[in-house]
Amino acid sequence: MATPATAQSATQRGKNRRIEVKPIAGMLGAEIDGVDLANLDDETFGEIYAAWLEHLVVFFRDQKLTPEQQITFAKRFGGIHYHPFVKGMEEHPEILEIIKEETDTRAFGEVWHTDQMFNPKPAKATILYAKESPSFGGDTMFTNMYAAYDALSEPMKALVKDIKTWSVGDRKKLSQGDKMGSAEKGRYVGNEKMAAKVQDPGDLVTESAHPLVRTHPETGRKALYLGNHVQTLHGFKSAEAKPLIDYLQAHSVFPEFTCRFRWEVGSMAIWDNRCTQHRALNDYQGQRRRMHRITIAGDAPF
Ligand code: SIN
Repeated sequence: MATPATAQSATQRGKNRRIEVKPIAGMLGAEIDGVDLANLDDETFGEIYAAWLEHLVVFFRDQKLTPEQQITFAKRFGGIHYHPFVKGMEEHPEILEIIKEETDTRAFGEVWHTDQMFNPKPAKATILYAKESPSFGGDTMFTNMYAAYDALSEPMKALVKDIKTWSVGDRKKLSQGDKMGSAEKGRYVGNEKMAAKVQDPGDLVTESAHPLVRTHPETGRKALYLGNHVQTLHGFKSAEAKPLIDYLQAHSVFPEFTCRFRWEVGSMAIWDNRCTQHRALNDYQGQRRRMHRITIAGDAPF
């Protein structure tokens, strides 16, 4: 997908006229101030888009958007990607409502992953908007997969260069123990509201091969492309693939590559799934958290 011209002009200027961008960590993540996402002109959106490409995940505070306004804003990033396994809201199928009730023990997205990696064209971006947030906990962590790639040794870069991963969606997921079972085996056991939204993906393709080293289609930078959907490496024996996947995943979430966002009602995060992973922290037992998530359709990775 092409970079909007307005984003390019913001980058070329090298200076924002409409927004204030404040990095929250050394490797990725920035808060953007001075914007009302419900009323955006093209120039302001261009600056936001350029800041998003630069910082990988951007955050906004105190936003007041109706579901329709969130959908309108999301469509500026591209077409809507619909989750094959989990139903959207009745009135707004574009929005996936993520809920953890006081009595739930499991949180949606509580492992490091990049959205919809099992899809032949995985999600480009995710836009997450906080409707209810716990008084403590429930933060989301993000990691910079460009940095993870850049930090590999030259021999490791040579090894991973042409490897293809094999990712599998929820229903067909091979056993990973209790943490991530398949949908049939209770993928959302411990979170009844999410379990009730599980749907059959029908004929949709939910297994895919992707390059382990991905070139970002807009920045041209290389990133490791990895997450919990990855089951094995093409052509490798599983005894060979597992330690390599485990090593690269542990390497990818080295604390210095990450940032962590504290949610408040009205906060919004927009992350680039092509060069990040994220993880929802499940550390607020007894409290409710409710989010509105929209994912944006992406391209086939190369
Ligand atoms: C997700 O993985 O998309 C959800 C992240 C979160 O709820 O913090």
